[in-house]
Parts: sequence; structure tokens; C-alpha cells
Amino acid sequence: MNVDVLLGLQWGDEGKGKIVDVLTPNYSVIARFQGGPNAGHTLEFEGNKHVLHSIPSGIFRKDAINIIGNGVVIDPIVFAGELEKLEPYGIELSKRLMISKKAHLILPTHRLIDAAAEQAKGDKKIGSTLKGIGPAYMDKTGRNGLRVGDLLLPNFSQKYNELKEKHLGILAHYPAFEFDLATMETAWFEKVERLKNLPCIDSEHHLNRLIKEGQKILAEGAQGTMLDVDFGTYPFVTSSNTVTAGTCTGLGVPPTSINKVIGIFKAYCTRVGSGPFPTELNNETGEKMRQEGNEFGSTTGRARRCGWLDLVQLKYAIMVNGVSELYMMKADVLSIFEEINVCEVYEINGERITDFPYDVHSLAVTPIYTALKGWKQDLTGLNSYEQAPQALKDYVQYLEQQLEVPIRLVSVGPDRSQTLFK
Ligand code: GDP
Ligand code: IMO
Ligand code: MG
Repeated sequence: MNVDVLLGLQWGDEGKGKIVDVLTPNYSVIARFQGGPNAGHTLEFEGNKHVLHSIPSGIFRKDAINIIGNGVVIDPIVFAGELEKLEPYGIELSKRLMISKKAHLILPTHRLIDAAAEQAKGDKKIGSTLKGIGPAYMDKTGRNGLRVGDLLLPNFSQKYNELKEKHLGILAHYPAFEFDLATMETAWFEKVERLKNLPCIDSEHHLNRLIKEGQKILAEGAQGTMLDVDFGTYPFVTSSNTVTAGTCTGLGVPPTSINKVIGIFKAYCTRVGSGPFPTELNNETGEKMRQEGNEFGSTTGRARRCGWLDLVQLKYAIMVNGVSELYMMKADVLSIFEEINVCEVYEINGERITDFPYDVHSLAVTPIYTALKGWKQDLTGLNSYEQAPQALKDYVQYLEQQLEVPIRLVSVGPDRSQTLFK
């Protein structure tokens, strides 16, 4: 039971990167188990702001080993860009960063197919980050994919060309659009060399050995539960399992090795991209949240949609993940509101519903809100939870009663230090 899991309970961007960085000193290893360059995990410390996409968020702490697990999909170009941005920090990457040989590669043609498929969907588009995630996972489950371990094979070029040809065949079915594949490929093959210089390992063996030795591992999720390919708001989801179960398949660790499941949520809700969002505020209040929370995507810069906290959704996420403790993020953003709304129940066709519905995107959902008193006080300078205003403590207590899981951390700003343990 040495593996703790930290994952997002909403539609991503809950603040996972910040918290993994905060928790890293308690662990020997930080391991990403799914997703890829669609993720953008932001860390702030000592005046630095840093966004990671495929590299685990433990990379800035001195001793931790960071592992990119088999469940992750890697684009060598994005990955090399991340490595370059780490250079000023003088991190000994060959000792601190390892990649599973079983992680799948995102090819330039995956990105082209992603773009073509989204374009063809018209107003039904997913709002993908266009990083080639969907097509890469399709090749994985379709048993066509190329893996990091394949880069070491003498016939890699042949394998690459065979898959590329398949992709060009797929692209021919879409309306023509312009692209310069040769330039994309040159960059890709150049950056592949950078990736190959890092330890490419059998990470499932490595992790299980560490578990046997009693070392502590933190599994870092990407995206959020409502973007999970099985349990999210399908089809407006990503193409991997973002839930706790994804830890086992994405790292090769057994379910019996999992100890804590830390579920992280914002004190309100955001979503970037298309798809249902029952408590979305398409009004001045939503705009105020966006500005105060600086809700613009870490990967694409797109404005995030904002709304009140949704307990129907959150209870569902807690259930499918088996969350044992909760961390609440961005409490400081709500300091601007006199009154804070929380959705306890949905009304659908005159009926009150508390089970998150299958076809939420095709239903007219009216969220029924409970209004709570705001704290109207700047929280960003607080040093301990005891100092927090009573109205915030009441908000936290109300949520704990509703969700039946303890809230162990409240975050009051983007910096590492703006973190209150309870
Ligand atoms: P992730 O994808 O879950 O790692 O989250 P992102 O990094 O995409 O988005 C979270 C954003 O909120 C980042 O810009 C963080 O720096 C910022 N952030 C994290 N925690 C807090 C907080 O408690 N308060 C405020 N104001 N910002 C926060
Ligand atoms: P982190 O790890 C928020 C969203 C996209 C789109 C859908 C599918 O930073 O929380 P994809 O590129 O996977 O095909 O996009 O999922 N999405 C995210 N939204 N945070 C993320 O990651 C996301 N990764 C993907 O906006 O709606
Ligand atoms: Mg993010």
C-alpha cells in the first residue's frame, strides 16, 4: 500500500501540478499514468512560473525520481520543448526522469488526423487540444501504435513509415487541407534523439521493485474525472482513463498497492472545450470568476468556461475514484463574492435528480442551488487554516458534510507556499 494517487475530480485544471509539487518531498517517486501533451500542469515557486505537459510535477524537487508511465502518450517535439525549458534549473535529468518503454508515441500524422477529425465534426467538435491524443490512443487500442521501446529497434524507420502510410490513407478521406509533413517529420526525428538519451525503462518492474522496498510513490493524474473516456461526459472527453483505475493500467501497479486516493477540486467549476456543464454561468458572474481565477488554458490559452461548484458531479467523481481525502483549490478566487452558490441537486423534467445522468448533454438540466455566505476577505496571505475566516470554515464544513469525505487541504493562491493543511 505504498502508492498514493492524486487526480482531478472535475474537468481538469484543478491545480494538480501545484499540489504534486507541494507533496513531492513526502515521496521517492512521482509517476504520471495517463494523458500526454494535452495536459498543462502549472507550478509556481520562488517567483518562477512553470507549465509541464508530459513531465511529472515532482521534477523541481531535489531528490524525487519522475517516471512517465506506460499509460502516457508522448510527442517527442513537445517533450523536447519541456526539457529545454528545464535547462536553467540545472536538474540532472538522466538520473531524475525515466520513461516507460511501453509509453506510446504521438506521430506528426496523429496531430494531422486530430485536426482533420475535429474540423469534420463541425459544431459537434470536442474542443480537443489538437495534440494528437485521440488518434494516438486509437492506434494503441487498435494495435497499430509505436512505443518508446520501438525507437531502439533497428527497423524503427520501417515501422514508422508503415504507420505513416496508414495515416495518410486515413487523411485522404477528409477534406484536403494544407500541411508540411516533411518539416514536421524532420523536427520529430531530431527530437526523438533527445528522448532516447534519457533512461527508457521497464517501468512496471521498476515501480514494483520500489514498492517491495517500501518506497513511497505518488501517481499524478492528468485531465479530470469528467473527461474520463468511460465515466466522463462522453463523447466530450479525452481518450484515456483519468480515474483511479487508470493508475493500475497506466503504471502496472496492482490495486492492492494503492493507499490514499486524493481527489482535488476547485471551490467552483471550470471546463475548457465543448460539452455539457450543468452549472456553467454564461453571465457577468462567470466572467468575474474567469478574470479573478485567471481561467485561461495552460496548454492552449483558451478561455475556460466557469460556473458554481456542482455536488451532483463531485459526488459521482468521488464514487468512481474511491476518494479518501479531498483538497480544495482556488478558495481565494471566491473572495470577491457576497454569496456563494453550490448545486446540490439537478431538476430534469420536473424531477429532482442526484445521480449524475448518462445523457446529461441532451437533457435540460436546471441546477438547484444552496446559497452560502461569502467571506469577502483576501485569503492569499494566510499562513494557517486556523487563521481562515469563519465563513470559509463554514463552507468547508458544509462540503465535508455533503460529500462525506474530509477536506484536508485548502489552497489560497498559485504559489507553493499558499497552501493550508487542515
Ligand atoms: P492542473 O492542470 O490541474 O495542474 O491545473 P492548471 O495548472 O492547468 O490550472 C490551475 C491554475 O490555477 C494554474 O494557473 C495555477 O497556477 C493556478 N492555481 C493553483 N492553485 C491555485 C489557488 O489556490 N489559487 C489561485 N488563485 N490559483 C491557483
Ligand atoms: P490537465 O491535465 C482541461 C479537454 C480538451 C477537450 C477534451 C479532449 O491540464 O487538467 P484532447 O486534447 O484530450 O483530445 O481533448 O479534453 N482537455 C483538458 N481540459 N485540462 C486538461 O488537462 C485537459 N486535457 C484535455 O479541452 O475538451
Ligand atoms: Mg491544466
